[in-house]
Amino acid sequence: MTTTSQSTARLAVDGGPPVRDPTRPWPRWPEPAPGAEHNLAQVLHSGRWAISSPAVDGAELFERRFARDFARYVGSRHCVPVDHGSSALVVALEALRLPFGSTVLVPALTWTASATAALRAGLVPVLVDVDPLTGCVGPDQLDTSVDARAVVAVHWASVMADVPALVAAADRHGMAVVEDAAQAHGGTWEGRQAGSMGRLGCFSFQHGKVLSGGEGGAVVTDDDELAPVLEELRADSRRYRRDSTPRGELDLEESASVQGANFCMSEFNAAVLCAQLTRLDAQHAVRNANYALLTELLADVPGVRLLQPPPRQTRMSIYEGTIIFDELPPGRTNADVAAALTAELGKRCYVTDEPLHRSVLLRPWTKPVLAPLAERFVELHRDRRYPNTERLADRSVQTHHSTFLGGERDMHDVAEAIAKVLTVR
Ligand SMILES: Cc1ncc(COP(=O)(O)O)c(C=O)c1O
Repeated sequence: MTTTSQSTARLAVDGGPPVRDPTRPWPRWPEPAPGAEHNLAQVLHSGRWAISSPAVDGAELFERRFARDFARYVGSRHCVPVDHGSSALVVALEALRLPFGSTVLVPALTWTASATAALRAGLVPVLVDVDPLTGCVGPDQLDTSVDARAVVAVHWASVMADVPALVAAADRHGMAVVEDAAQAHGGTWEGRQAGSMGRLGCFSFQHGKVLSGGEGGAVVTDDDELAPVLEELRADSRRYRRDSTPRGELDLEESASVQGANFCMSEFNAAVLCAQLTRLDAQHAVRNANYALLTELLADVPGVRLLQPPPRQTRMSIYEGTIIFDELPPGRTNADVAAALTAELGKRCYVTDEPLHRSVLLRPWTKPVLAPLAERFVELHRDRRYPNTERLADRSVQTHHSTFLGGERDMHDVAEAIAKVLTVR
């Protein structure tokens, strides 16, 4: 790492020369995998753009193929694809059939969908603090004072929640564990995949995720009774026929054991995802090697580190690289540091999503249909504190996983930029 010129340099954000040559590109995201174009063209001309379309000549729907491939990848018995990660959480929580207004624990450090999904499922999210080292909810954060019936275990940024420990603790209190693995495809905990350890696991395939179909989501489970319920919840109370489909008929039958809605994944999304999944493990290997290198390089920079996985996490799925500062440069916020790093690197660095207890995106009282839940939500959040969440959110800067999809030189640039931003005034 070059540090000699730093004391005399000016920050790029103040008009100085940037650490990285602006003409050097960063890896593009998303990058179409081999086969994606072919799959898309196949859908385009197949006469079947949705799973709710009449069968044609016995060709398999991409949605079915993706469900099978992804279930195998995660190591779960069932996978039900949906249109968004948020919908995955809604149908997963609905599948638990909890009484209206039941409380569900949700970590404060997550995207708003982890909590709004609970509201959409007729439940009240109760925001809890996170583990100070991982940013995830752990057994110590299981608040037993609100009679919660479920906990949404979010795997945050690149590290995993200790789901086996959460399941053990939650079982004692009659809570179901729903994994929110929207940011964690392919992460493993003692060899077990994110999403496969709770009662249900939910994924997002939105544009920025490590596995992307533009939009999309999926629920996985080993529970043979929940799987058909999930199918109905996402396809207007219909599920796939168990017999073969006559030509011109729908693959869906009106089994109707529960009120569903349309959360179906389009054939276009599924076609892209089938191809992208074949690249995921190779991309993990590149990102993880670069992450390890950056971790090493930052060991030479006092007061800063990359978020590290707990010892029992056996593989990281790096959705965001989280740079944590012991102390920020005097007079600067982490948003200032993020802007300075962005200017040095020509790659967007940013602060984490606003923690939910102070996020403007979580306001159930603005929607009449949520009124009874909103009242309880407000009541339950008086006087709650989130010290670990606040500290992590206010002392960290993040960068997208595509930052780690290039070569070693990129990591040297990032380390140099961090050192410069910390030393140059
Ligand atoms: C932790 C988490 N949960 C849920 C979601 C929602 O997924 P989607 O945007 O596909 O609805 C996201 C998306 O960013 C997320 O990061």
